Amino acid sequence: MTEKPIKAAGICKTYKGFLGSSATVLHDISLEIEEGEIFGLLGPNGSGKTTLISIFSTLIFPERGSLSILGMDARRHNKEIRKFINISTAKPNFPWSLTVRENLRYYGMLYGLHGSALSRTVEDQMDAFELGEFRDMKFENLSTGLKQRLSLAKAMLNQPRLLFLDEPTTGLDPDISIKTRMLIKRIHQEQNISVVLSTHYMPEAEMLCDRIAFLRKGRIVAMDTPRNLKRHLGLGERIVVTYEGSVDIAALQGLPGVLAIKSERDRLEIVIDRVEDSLDRIVKLFCAARILNITVREPDLEDVFLELAR
Ligand SMILES: Nc1ncnc2c1ncn2[C@@H]1O[C@H](COP(=O)(O)OP(=O)(O)O)[C@@H](O)[C@H]1O
Ligand SMILES: [Mg+2]
Repeated sequence: MTEKPIKAAGICKTYKGFLGSSATVLHDISLEIEEGEIFGLLGPNGSGKTTLISIFSTLIFPERGSLSILGMDARRHNKEIRKFINISTAKPNFPWSLTVRENLRYYGMLYGLHGSALSRTVEDQMDAFELGEFRDMKFENLSTGLKQRLSLAKAMLNQPRLLFLDEPTTGLDPDISIKTRMLIKRIHQEQNISVVLSTHYMPEAEMLCDRIAFLRKGRIVAMDTPRNLKRHLGLGERIVVTYEGSVDIAALQGLPGVLAIKSERDRLEIVIDRVEDSLDRIVKLFCAARILNITVREPDLEDVFLELAR
């Protein structure tokens, strides 16, 4: 198939509220997703990620714009499209009293599987997502991480060509998040599918995505590779140093991997590409000074937007 997984042009979405109120939450969204890529929708809470994923997965329709999914018109052919897509959301909700295996069989049947094909597919997905040892555990007793893994397994039951993941690691402990990201990477490689995933966490988008659309208040404010986004928007991690004495700021600026520097009297904020590559060299330039404090933090997406707007 040569059809692009997603071709969207000029999409607008307005939610109608009570008493005639309405809020436009997506403005003129246009993008194309390439076959086989992992495409990230990155933005803070409320920026429209879930709404856009709901539109792309044909759960809701935009009132303006054109949308083609896998070469088919989203509105006219939504039943056909749904055979080839699937979705896993941040807070998966499954029948609570069914076990892992029963839930997967239930969804498998909804996708039209039965008999030995159903049993085989369910076993395969339990293997792929390392759910075998929890097969007889009821949904209500699963940890958040296991619920998320079950949700991913369910999303692969119909062997989708296009997979939507809405905040796949939100609410998970850091180590479980890492494991989940590795699973996503693996299924993407093994199954050769296109993936659209939303996140409000830049390092996740960076680790997983080939390209990222940066959403703010329902608009795409930037769309690029993670590397370019980091460079152009200063989206790298921030090292903040307070110190006494003097530091060669020109030398700091010249270090590879340093994207930007903000200097105040006794405080330096250094935006960098990758902490593990730069920290050592940066700290060495403070040899003539006395470091009072040093912190490393992730970029705050709202901060970045404010800087962009300036
Ligand atoms: N069903 C709905 N009805 C009315 N407003 C909604 C609905 N769903 C989301 N919104 C609003 O749309 C905006 C975007 O929400 P959402 O797509 O959930 O963003 P995100 O997933 O990035 O947090 C928010 O302001 C939210 O309050
Ligand atoms: Mg959301």
